[in-house]
Amino acid sequence: MKTRAVIMAAGKGTRMKSRTPKVLHELCGRTMFEHVLEAVRGAGADEIVAMVSPDLQPHIEAMGVTCIVQEPQKGTGHAMQLAMAGLADEKGQILVASGDMPLVPASLLRDVVSARDVVNAPIALVSAHVPLPTNFGRIVRNRGKVVRIVEDADASEIERSIDEVNTGIYCFEEQALRRHLRVLVPNNAQGELYLTDCVAAIAAEGGRVEAVLCDDRRLVMGVNNRIELSAARAVMQQHILDELMLSGVTIVDPSTTYADVQVIVGNDTVVLPNTHLRGKTRIGSGVTVGPGSFLENATVADDVHVWYSIVRDSSIGSGTTVGPFAYLRMGASVGKNCKIGNYVELKKTTLGDGAKAQHLSYLGDAEIGDEANIGAGTITCNWDGKNKNKTTIGKRAFIGSNSSLVAPVTVGDGALTGAGAVVIRDVPPGERVVGNPAKPIRK
Ligand code: UD1
Ligand code: CA
Repeated sequence: MKTRAVIMAAGKGTRMKSRTPKVLHELCGRTMFEHVLEAVRGAGADEIVAMVSPDLQPHIEAMGVTCIVQEPQKGTGHAMQLAMAGLADEKGQILVASGDMPLVPASLLRDVVSARDVVNAPIALVSAHVPLPTNFGRIVRNRGKVVRIVEDADASEIERSIDEVNTGIYCFEEQALRRHLRVLVPNNAQGELYLTDCVAAIAAEGGRVEAVLCDDRRLVMGVNNRIELSAARAVMQQHILDELMLSGVTIVDPSTTYADVQVIVGNDTVVLPNTHLRGKTRIGSGVTVGPGSFLENATVADDVHVWYSIVRDSSIGSGTTVGPFAYLRMGASVGKNCKIGNYVELKKTTLGDGAKAQHLSYLGDAEIGDEANIGAGTITCNWDGKNKNKTTIGKRAFIGSNSSLVAPVTVGDGALTGAGAVVIRDVPPGERVVGNPAKPIRK
């Protein structure tokens, strides 16, 4: 049967106290909405629409998701009326998920869809047991059967003591949903149209209400404020780190290690404390990373050692050591078996295999050959006040300590600059230059 999904995300999210719409807040490398979208896609939805507020719309459309704008927001029932008005009338099923539940796994969405599908019930919903619930609607049962959902604001004292709650995840038989949405009335404490009233209406006419109990209530945690955001992030972070550890990665201190959802790490890699692995970072096996390192969109080959360093949008070849206190950024590409030492910054720079820059250097817009030795304090003067200029250093070149390479400039293969040289012209292969400005000398 065709399954279409509606992601509810038009709510104001005022408790976030933010200029950013709630579902665009980020955890573990994705926005809340993207996590939900991933789960809904993973559940096999044939078509997805999002209910959004006007300020959210452009952001969600940029993700390639069809939006239906709800303004003003008059409740979940009102949102679903608009959603169904926007979707062609078919004989399918409608999966409903919330954009503010980032931990919901695809498997739970599949479960609710198949729970409905198997018996062709008008509705299946996901419930969970939550001790002392407050923000949730309660599931009211009669002789075991779900008969209605009552919102906290409308509940009696006895109903408030029910600990089975409505998570807001449903799968509806489409025609039943359309029929019941038409007759919703805002007859409640909040003066809203409640989607949950469809449940009572279905039960009242003898329809079957299937309930799928989610036994890990943390997964259906909704995020309404920044305390809940941090709690959801902690759960997600633990899942990501657990998966890495089960796949053979040693994480010495999970409580101070942060890894985004898309991060890939090979086995026998050791991650030391206070380390952040962000974005699309990919790390090989046998690597040691940390302590105290920040890698974002980094590609790290096998047997690398990175400690107390920052690597962003850059790659490191196998057997190379980086740090402490190195900074690789903007497409730096370091070859195999290199040594990048303390206080070395590489920006848009390529370093050939076996090259070394061990101390106190700025290497920007440079191409450096295999086995070149970059002495302590070497600076590429890549910025002339107007343009960035390129420095080329040949294979096995020896750049003396404290050399300034005034770009654009080329130092040939095997060439040498003396300590403190200011190199303002090209140095041919094998030649030596010294002084200020650097002059050629006899070999
Ligand atoms: C709703 C349910 C409640 C359930 C809870 C789970 C109703 C009446 N109540 O509560 O039983 O326990 O979800 O979180 O449905 N939204 C819109 N448009 C609106 C209102 C809400 O798109 O006009 C979206 C929100 O962005 C959110 C979701 O619907 O993603 C749920 O809304 P929220 O206000 O958080 O939940 P409640 O209505 O309090
Ligand atoms: Ca509400």
